[in-house]
Amino acid sequence: MSIRIHPSILAADFANFERDLRRIGQADAAHVDVMDAHFVPNLTFGLPMVERLAEVSPVPLDVHLMIDDPDRWAADYASAGAASVTFHVEAAKDARAVARAIRGRGARVGAAIKPGTAFEPWIPLLEEIDMLLVMTVEPGFGGQEFMTDVMPKLREAADTISARGGGVLLQVDGGVTSSTIRVAAEHGADTFVAGSSVFGSDNPDEAIHELRRQAEKAIRKS
Ligand code: DX5
Ligand code: ZN
Repeated sequence: MSIRIHPSILAADFANFERDLRRIGQADAAHVDVMDAHFVPNLTFGLPMVERLAEVSPVPLDVHLMIDDPDRWAADYASAGAASVTFHVEAAKDARAVARAIRGRGARVGAAIKPGTAFEPWIPLLEEIDMLLVMTVEPGFGGQEFMTDVMPKLREAADTISARGGGVLLQVDGGVTSSTIRVAAEHGADTFVAGSSVFGSDNPDEAIHELRRQAEKAIRKS
């Protein structure tokens, strides 16, 4: 299984996104946190910013929508140039329709669940998505602590995905460091978002390399 590392630009310099995107050439994608101050208390950026980032980024964009009404907005992020668009099932009126709308605009689809959201009711959605995001913090802010109590749910999701023959990436987001990444990898995650631990480092590419190394080591052991 190949490990994917997606640094979150929420921890980058907001006045220097282009420069900071060039510092993560080793990344598989750049994670872009869109927040609307409604679905989550925090506010970041929207469509025009994603459109411009897609033009300058050397790596694909993995957009994480933490917004109300993804039914209205999600597909437009695909058209803005995101390689993948992840929406929160808690915010969607019709998650299946949102997933289809994103795919219809040529991007891969992710569905995200908050720490308190059960996985089991969303099993039927797996056939419509390319990635499941299991949040390991309450969405809204970077720099929070990784929630180990989400690990049984992560394992349940990993087992369900592999029993169905795979084909759906399993992403974790929040508090991922070179030590917590091992726990998440042992519980079946293959795609890792890391903000503070990458951009807080003097050498982001080296931090990515170390995250990858730790995840691979954990998978070999488990
Ligand atoms: C939190 C965001 C995360 C955040 C992760 O709501 O979805 O992507 O940037 O940041 P760290 O890695 O610092 O927890
Ligand atoms: Zn995120």
